Amino acid sequence: MSTPSLLILPGDGIGPEVMTEVRKIIDWFGARRGLAFEVSEDLVGGAAYDAHGTPLSDATMAKAQEVDAVLLGAVGGPIYDDLDFSVKPERGLLRLRKEMDLFANLRPAQCFDALADFSSLKRDVVAGLDIMIVRELTSGIYFGEPRGIITEGNERVGLNTQRYTESEIARVARSAFELARKRSNKVCSMEKANVMESGILWREVVQKVRDEEYPDVELSHMYADAGGMQLCRWPKQFDVIVTDNLFGDLLSDVAAMLTGSLGMLPSASLGAPMANGRPKALYEPVHGSAPDIAGQGKANPIACILSFAMALRYSFDQGAEADRLEKAVEAVLSSGKRTADLMQAEGGTPVSTGEMGDAILAALDASL
Ligand code: IPM
Ligand code: MG
Repeated sequence: MSTPSLLILPGDGIGPEVMTEVRKIIDWFGARRGLAFEVSEDLVGGAAYDAHGTPLSDATMAKAQEVDAVLLGAVGGPIYDDLDFSVKPERGLLRLRKEMDLFANLRPAQCFDALADFSSLKRDVVAGLDIMIVRELTSGIYFGEPRGIITEGNERVGLNTQRYTESEIARVARSAFELARKRSNKVCSMEKANVMESGILWREVVQKVRDEEYPDVELSHMYADAGGMQLCRWPKQFDVIVTDNLFGDLLSDVAAMLTGSLGMLPSASLGAPMANGRPKALYEPVHGSAPDIAGQGKANPIACILSFAMALRYSFDQGAEADRLEKAVEAVLSSGKRTADLMQAEGGTPVSTGEMGDAILAALDASL
């Protein structure tokens, strides 16, 4: 196979800073592990709007369709708040997800032992936690029509539509069952079948896919609100959670906080296999652009670095190298090095974004 290609879209806020650290890691794998990538870089979000008047140019979209994987930093910021909805930075990200048809969003929530005390929950509730949220990413209320702000009588009405086809539900359910087979073989599906027809259909279809294709996988169903409560009460009861676009957005932020910091969580958004057998793929941290700390060297690059580890695992079949990178991160955390988001009130001195990246590089060197 030819050298795999990566398109890097740093985006806005802390995106460029954390991506600088990821590039160091990518270079390390090229130099030390013979894993070379053809890397190109482009604009997304507010940065693209500033340059081209659109949060994702057609040329960048076309490039994203061609490469083996896209790595994205973060989009958005307060200076773009007043832009028209159609050109807001977030629209760039949503266009990538939709046009690449990245229907399965994998959001692992893993609690590193060294960080178990940073969670707002008690140590024994979160220590050793390892769950995977599979969020549907290309449909549901994020994309359903009709949508808009319309006028009815003498007032305006905000309108969005929750909509799922059977095939959209079935394909993301399959992704969840496949993942569960490689983990603890347990899936919990979350919706609101008590109040939403789309939830009733969701539950039915997920159950049917399981009964017909994955009878070996244990499946349970939960209302999404109860799911949020159970995630805080006893998250270790879960292995894989599969849920829709909006509930997945909310529940993955809840799950993220269980691990101590949003600055730790990576994600993979996967679509159908391309001609070369690799899935269409975009990797990005779960955190946002954090404009309040942008440009100050305070950001935690780990979520973005772990997103590259997911790329090694899911796009490039390099599970052992992904393990190596994850272990390097764990070793650095165990040594006590922390960025500001991982400092407790009483203190110590945080390391900068660049120092964290360098520490992970040193741990990678030590792994050889
Ligand atoms: C996420 C984010 C996005 C979403 C925003 C930035 C559009 O919150 O990836 O979780 O709502 O999906
Ligand atoms: Mg979100």
